[in-house]
Amino acid sequence: MKITCQSPVNIAVIKYWGKENVELNLPTNGSISVTLSMEHIKTITCVESNEQIKQDSLVLNGELVEIPGRMKLVIDKMRNIAIRCGNRQIKYKSESPLESPADPRHFITIKSRNTFPTAAGLASSASGYSCLVYCLSLLYHLDAYLTRTELSEFARLGSGSSCRSLFPGLVEWHLGDSSSTSVADSICDSWEDLDILVCIVKSEKKKVGSTVGMQQTVKSSALFKHRVEGMPAKLETMKRAIIAKDFETFANLTMADSNQFHAVCLDTFPPIIYLNEDSRWFIEFVHEYNRMAGETAVAYTFDAGPNPVLYMRSKYTGDVVRLLKQLVDVTKFKSIRDFNECVTIVNELGENIPKTNIPVEIIHAKCGAGPSLCKEEGI
Ligand code: DP6
Repeated sequence: MKITCQSPVNIAVIKYWGKENVELNLPTNGSISVTLSMEHIKTITCVESNEQIKQDSLVLNGELVEIPGRMKLVIDKMRNIAIRCGNRQIKYKSESPLESPADPRHFITIKSRNTFPTAAGLASSASGYSCLVYCLSLLYHLDAYLTRTELSEFARLGSGSSCRSLFPGLVEWHLGDSSSTSVADSICDSWEDLDILVCIVKSEKKKVGSTVGMQQTVKSSALFKHRVEGMPAKLETMKRAIIAKDFETFANLTMADSNQFHAVCLDTFPPIIYLNEDSRWFIEFVHEYNRMAGETAVAYTFDAGPNPVLYMRSKYTGDVVRLLKQLVDVTKFKSIRDFNECVTIVNELGENIPKTNIPVEIIHAKCGAGPSLCKEEGI
């Protein structure tokens, strides 16, 4: 019995940073993210189960690796629920292609592959864990008993941000006050007028992992306390902006939250520095572009790494791509649309945006769907 699924990356616009409970990945604040369409970036996972398999195993990007403790926890939780669900009343129609659920007492082999550099500060754990949880839910028909929001608890146990990747569009991970209430759901399924450019300036493994970084921040940063206090109001404003498709407020809050998150990292002792000179070039580029455009056309955000993710109103995307191709060394451009016909909106930027030789790989995406079954072979 075999299930192959694909799951998207999500990029937070209000960041998760800080754990109230490390073991359960309960956050210190709620967060909001955008789910990215899967044309160029996603995780594909295949889970197989039968009596011949002698032990659980994991092949990650072609390499047999030890199953991490957190992943064992997620698998065991889902197996136990599957055993208990066996004699419960079915509530929903399962999306599983398997006629009957696999036996949760059998071992499994997991093969998983990312179509982007792992640990580049690009939430690979989010697409990875959400994909595994979705695969297992179909393997054991758990979606016949549990809603997607209830399933998001399992993803969160693996990696906090992954609970948001189970949903399409714009997604909120609620702070909650227990393991079963700190879960995700959708704010809205899509935002047609939104384009996303993921800019990879460096694909090395990040220096300070988020789990360790968050702990240091919670322990030592005074600015962090201020951030957490302001969160409920910030989340409310962001949700209202998303529902009203108010790009101006959405973009300004996204940039402000990214800046505050990195300020909190710098306020951590010893400091955590994820941004570099290339990141700063992008920050200045965006502010200058917006000034010349006469409105907030583009926003940046940075996770635990130097790579900018740019959100923009789609009428500007062609123009932004044209300028980036002139100003930086675009080594690869993976698009989902043709920009050849685009009109020039901003002719020239100020002198403080010099041409540089930063090598950048750009991936274009839209706001996308949640996990789905997939037929791809050769993981
Ligand atoms: C900066 O979800 O990777 O990307 O729960 O320890 O696995 P763990 O952390 P993780 O942290 C993501 C942090 C972030 C912000 C965000 O995605 O909200």
